[in-house]
Amino acid sequence: MGFPEHRLRRLRKNENMRRMVRETHLSIDNLIMPLFVRPGKGIKQPIPSMPGNYQMSVDKLVEEVKILEGLGIPGIILFGIPDKKDEMGSDAYSEEGIIQKAIIAIKKEAQNILVITDVCMCEYTSHGHCGFVRRDEKTGHFDVDNDMTLELLVKESVSHVKAGADIVAPSDMMDGRVGAIRDGLDENGFEHIPIMAYSAKYSSGFYGPFREAAESTPGFGDRSSYQMDPHNANEALREVALDIEEGADIVMVKPALAYLDIIRMIKDKFNYPVAAYNVSGEFSVVKAAAEKGWIDEKRVALEILTGIKRAGADMILTYWAKDAAQWLKNK
Ligand code: PBG
Repeated sequence: MGFPEHRLRRLRKNENMRRMVRETHLSIDNLIMPLFVRPGKGIKQPIPSMPGNYQMSVDKLVEEVKILEGLGIPGIILFGIPDKKDEMGSDAYSEEGIIQKAIIAIKKEAQNILVITDVCMCEYTSHGHCGFVRRDEKTGHFDVDNDMTLELLVKESVSHVKAGADIVAPSDMMDGRVGAIRDGLDENGFEHIPIMAYSAKYSSGFYGPFREAAESTPGFGDRSSYQMDPHNANEALREVALDIEEGADIVMVKPALAYLDIIRMIKDKFNYPVAAYNVSGEFSVVKAAAEKGWIDEKRVALEILTGIKRAGADMILTYWAKDAAQWLKNK
């Protein structure tokens, strides 16, 4: 018996037919918008490598967050660009820090959108590494001091939550950070605050535009001693298992596009809420090609986001969140 030719095509006949049998639904509910905040007033400075994204002072940031709230986007994630960076990354956990000020201002004006904070030292340290760097007396090599860094990350998380953050998202990849942050939050009466852990964070070339945006390119060396090797998949499962054991409520894969298999494996194995970070380089390559007229940005962006969703992500952190919210509304 031959394969009945119309068997599959019958269900693709027209848009209503396709709608009825659609397996994946991309929704505004899935989107989280990353935003960059810096000191000053009245500043909305375009980020050249990420068209449509800005470094904003707190006043401009609040205006933007109100727009995102109005569009129905459920959450934002904040990245800080402090004026002063030092070896201890002290702006990261100062009450007067840029993120702390931003959260307080947002919470006054927009209560119906979740504020997630990226917890890491790289934007605050003078050398741009994700933690406290120590020189090994014997070898003369510099390395990130894991335990010292954990203390700083706990301080940073607690201070974000004191300012009003709804979720903390540690992105540094130090060992034991989720457990340390969970304990630190609990001790301070913040048992109700979830942790979104960047669990499978690969050492990736796709972060290039972000590092320009956040001014966080390491001054020496790279991050391959603490970020994952792109060749590995089983290792991601081990990282996720550890983070869940330590108390992560949401686990993240980053970047998304070259790692869709990892998203799927994690979703299938752990059945946990999974976030995927559609990172700066994934966004900027599409923007650049669209500017040249080589591809249709809206079509490609929605296809990418749908692909990430289909791979198993519940949440997508994406620089297209604002545009996609509008595209999905007017569909
Ligand atoms: C670290 C952090 C980075 C990104 C998010 N959090 C940069 C890095 O690891 O170098 C990158 C996000 C992107 O490229 O969009 N704080």
